[in-house]
Amino acid sequence: MKNTKAVIIGAGHVGSHCASALIAKCLFNEIVFIDIDVAKARSQALDLADAAIFSARDMIVRTGDYTDCKDADIIVVCVGTPPDVNRSRMDYLEETIQMVKTIIEPLKNSGFSGVLINISNPADVITHYLQEGTGFPFDRVISTSTMLDTARLKCILSSKMGLKPSLIQAFSMGEHGASQMIPWSKVVVLGRPILQLLEEQSEKYAALNLAEITELTRRAGYEIIQGKGSTEFGIGAALAELAQSIIHDEQKILPVSVLLKGQYGQNDVYASVPAIIGGNGVVEILEIPLTELEITQFTASCEEIRKNYQLVKDY
Ligand code: 2OP
Repeated sequence: MKNTKAVIIGAGHVGSHCASALIAKCLFNEIVFIDIDVAKARSQALDLADAAIFSARDMIVRTGDYTDCKDADIIVVCVGTPPDVNRSRMDYLEETIQMVKTIIEPLKNSGFSGVLINISNPADVITHYLQEGTGFPFDRVISTSTMLDTARLKCILSSKMGLKPSLIQAFSMGEHGASQMIPWSKVVVLGRPILQLLEEQSEKYAALNLAEITELTRRAGYEIIQGKGSTEFGIGAALAELAQSIIHDEQKILPVSVLLKGQYGQNDVYASVPAIIGGNGVVEILEIPLTELEITQFTASCEEIRKNYQLVKDY
């Protein structure tokens, strides 16, 4: 097996759970934490190194610095302050930008040539800032963004419909935040478009309210934060799924935030859309046909992201 290395910038809840999920999947033989809180990064690395002993692959988990980025396959950015139920992800923009500013130059000068995955919120805006700041190729700078909302959507739909998640093909698009949208015309359940299924079996699914499911999906992260002050397992698993598609060049279709260049009528904005992800990052951005209403909703989400990206210039 070829040597593979992941660098995780930010050793908090999210960074440590990302490492844990990567260890469980045996994707890397080296995982390196970088954090300004060196003692915390060291403790996370030591704890996770113990966990790695039980995995099927020899692994090193340690702390490091930006010289570790040169031969890394992926870098995961998860810096930021812990979430609060009373603040939207966009509310963190200015403070996250101040943190991300400090890592741009070291990243740029590190000689990194792999795929940079941003998780820090607001994910889509921060990913754009990282891409522009580092100058890394845009197809190698992406965000997990609505991968997580997509997982939540599948959880909610499967529970409301009484079906296994594997029978549901669905995804969320746009912002990893309040303006995200679900292209219901593309949701397929039991091999049939959900809108057709709801018409055919109207009595069975009379209680299924798609607007309510959209809202529950948007709010799902906050329900978790309410009880434990963070979300971490879901994002760790989403990151590991994305990393797997990169490391094994799986060419999986995943809803990730990418720089749009004309797709869906959008230019120069990072937003989540289905994309094929392989060894070098984005292989292809898929432009699936959406209804007029869905295009309007997706456009509004992109506008929200774009508007916030404009603010970054003054920070
Ligand atoms: C989440 O959705 C807070 O963005 C984080 O879990």
